[in-house]
Amino acid sequence: MAGRKVYIETYGCQMNEYDTELVYGILKEHGISKADRLEEADIILVNSCSVREGADNRAISRASQLTHLKRKRSGLVIGIIGCVAQRDKGKLLEKYRGIDLVLGPDSYRKLPEILKNMNGSPVVKTEAKRSELYDDITPFRQTSVSAYVSIMRGCDKFCSFCIVPYVRGRERSRSPQSVIEEVRKAVDSGYREIVLLGQNVNSYRYERVDFPQLLLMVSDIEGVERIRFTSPHPQDVDERLLEVMKERDNVCKHIHLPLQSGSTRILKLMNRNYTREEYLELVEKIKEYMPEGAITTDIIVGFPSEREEDFLDTVDVMDRVRFDSAFMFKYSPRPGTKAAKMEDDVPETEKDRRLRVVIEKQKEHTLYRNKQLVGKIEKILIESKGKKEEHEVRGRTDTNKLVVVKGIDCKVGEFVQVKIVDAAGVTLFGELIETS
Ligand code: SAH
Ligand code: SF4
Ligand code: F3S
Repeated sequence: MAGRKVYIETYGCQMNEYDTELVYGILKEHGISKADRLEEADIILVNSCSVREGADNRAISRASQLTHLKRKRSGLVIGIIGCVAQRDKGKLLEKYRGIDLVLGPDSYRKLPEILKNMNGSPVVKTEAKRSELYDDITPFRQTSVSAYVSIMRGCDKFCSFCIVPYVRGRERSRSPQSVIEEVRKAVDSGYREIVLLGQNVNSYRYERVDFPQLLLMVSDIEGVERIRFTSPHPQDVDERLLEVMKERDNVCKHIHLPLQSGSTRILKLMNRNYTREEYLELVEKIKEYMPEGAITTDIIVGFPSEREEDFLDTVDVMDRVRFDSAFMFKYSPRPGTKAAKMEDDVPETEKDRRLRVVIEKQKEHTLYRNKQLVGKIEKILIESKGKKEEHEVRGRTDTNKLVVVKGIDCKVGEFVQVKIVDAAGVTLFGELIETS
């Protein structure tokens, strides 16, 4: 098996990106290295996402398109892994010819053995394994300046629109020891920013350690200059978490707080466990603790039975909070979820209109929030060099905003102090002050 090469295309959230790193890590230990290009691969895996219909289709049509490569390359293995694999299992083989492998998120350990024993007939492995945390696997990192570290897997929240609990299984947390060990390793190999991942990071619990405590432990690790985490659930944000965020310099003052809807009636149907008032109160509290901090969100428009007044409630919450940025989606029914049994009664054209309205609104708010930074000094972590201009770099502020700095020459991974001189759209422009 040694000498073979694998290439993975990843769709979906950061958890999936992290899983791709785990799969590369697992295969590396068995002598299968990462192919730099698709053309060099003996094994191609599509790590799929099923959160919305669009994502779902993209991943699967890509996988079936890739099967054409088999005509030219004999022995090429094509697999679908991740969330669509978990949901559709063997059905994928019936629907798409040429797929050799369907593997769910709890079965990645089996991959080397499966690849070794492949005999021409396709393999499906999608058993849910509650205990699987992959905490002994060293991920083969694909990111440049910030390292993802998953602190938990699965989700028990069962928001009525969401497929994640069905494809990722029950919530389980990694031991603090294994999280810390992985963070240490990432720091040793040069990462200075750590992103703690989970579908619900703040319901993390391992024996007596909860999320604020884990955050403190990670914050104490030498060499960790920045810690981010995503996503917390509004229901589980408590003041202890806000205290840790405020107190610790290396915990970023940014919270991604998915709103989903601003209407209490819709939130109830979504099974989100908070009201519009509770959400707004929480935002006030966050602003008290971190007046300079950033709040970002996720919004769904067109959930079943969403009337104009419900939609206007969402717009109203946006106006009150003025989010720094937002991911905005049209509701997409996911078979098997509770919401999929409700009538998807908001017409597509109306969903489109509502989406356009929130996108326009968010653009205004992002610009408003970004303009408040003009004239301020910010420490940014350089994450890439400009593609067109040689002396242009891009970096992120503590609050996760992208800053373009022209006319400087510094390395990816460096922290620099810049003065924000302009804000346009979602981008800030800065001038170098000093290198730290
Ligand atoms: N665990 C994360 C969310 C993961 S899914 C959290 O709770 O924050 C990312 C986002 O996709 C969700 O916040 C939601 O806004 C959106 N989403 C999930 N299911 C969806 C669906 N069926 N239709 C439209 N958007 C959906
Ligand atoms: Fe989905 Fe809700 Fe879990 Fe997020 S918290 S993954 S939206 S069920
Ligand atoms: Fe998608 Fe699975 Fe993530 S459904 S959003 S890749 S957990």
